[in-house]
Amino acid sequence: MPVTEPTAVRRSLLAWLETDLGFGLEEIRRLDPIRPATSTEPAPRADATPAPPPPRAAEPPSPRTPPAPDPAETARTSSPAAAPARASGFRPRVGPLAERLGSPEKRAALDTLDAEVAGCTLCKLSRGRTLAVPGEGNVDADLMFVGEGPGADEDRSGRPFVGRAGELLTKIVEAMGFSRETVFIANIVKCRPPGNRDPEPDETASCFPFLERQLEIVEPKVICTLGLPATRKLLDIRGGISAVRGRKFAFRGIPLIPTFHPAYLLRNPAGKKQVWSDVQTVARLVEERGGVVPFPERLARNTGGAAGGA
Ligand code: URA
Repeated sequence: MPVTEPTAVRRSLLAWLETDLGFGLEEIRRLDPIRPATSTEPAPRADATPAPPPPRAAEPPSPRTPPAPDPAETARTSSPAAAPARASGFRPRVGPLAERLGSPEKRAALDTLDAEVAGCTLCKLSRGRTLAVPGEGNVDADLMFVGEGPGADEDRSGRPFVGRAGELLTKIVEAMGFSRETVFIANIVKCRPPGNRDPEPDETASCFPFLERQLEIVEPKVICTLGLPATRKLLDIRGGISAVRGRKFAFRGIPLIPTFHPAYLLRNPAGKKQVWSDVQTVARLVEERGGVVPFPERLARNTGGAAGGA
């Protein structure tokens, strides 16, 4: 459903920022209203040059390493190479698997994939893992988050985003009116890189087919990448995350919005303002593409009981 007025999602996100002390915001800045999605809106050409990104304070190079000012990186990030996807009117992509499979078959396909991941020895990360972390969530999820790779907590538990960054991601997901059980959460590598370093190209290359299959099976309406490594793996961009976050791209026909990694937000709480803006875009896209907010009562709670009413 197109968004023409402040919606429950928008009110929920506002209230989330205003009330959730755990989110750590000290200042609430009112953003421009969400523009309605109209069929008359001219879509950017596929080869159009993206508008220059807004000025930014610092470039988070990776959620796993402390940010360091890098003038060369700053210069490069001013011209992201990937073209933005259309602002509205995405054509739903119907994949071959989704045409064939109902939910039980999708679940079975994911179980098979999980077993393959658990026994995978394709790259050197397999040698240091305690447990592989394939990903988890709803086989019919409208929204898929894609992070970088497991950390220590995930390596021990076999589940994605269960450490501190995961707790923050869970808060973000729930403030949007979803829950961890209704979305799908995956990573670009399924085994923990030693010392939480960034995954190396050979590792992401070996592991990528698993993520491709997860996307093909779940076929989310929207992808939200968390941080630069995941964004760079799915999009052909040269810029940093600050240059592309909150903007609409597409991966094989599925709308994709990058945002900061929650681990970066733990170190740089000021970035939560941008994430608020980005997840509004994500939620709006899910709505536009026919998705539902599965827990409207959470919206009501987040707006002090006023969601859907005031
Ligand atoms: N960071 C990630 O990118 N993925 C996880 O699963 C946990 C932390």
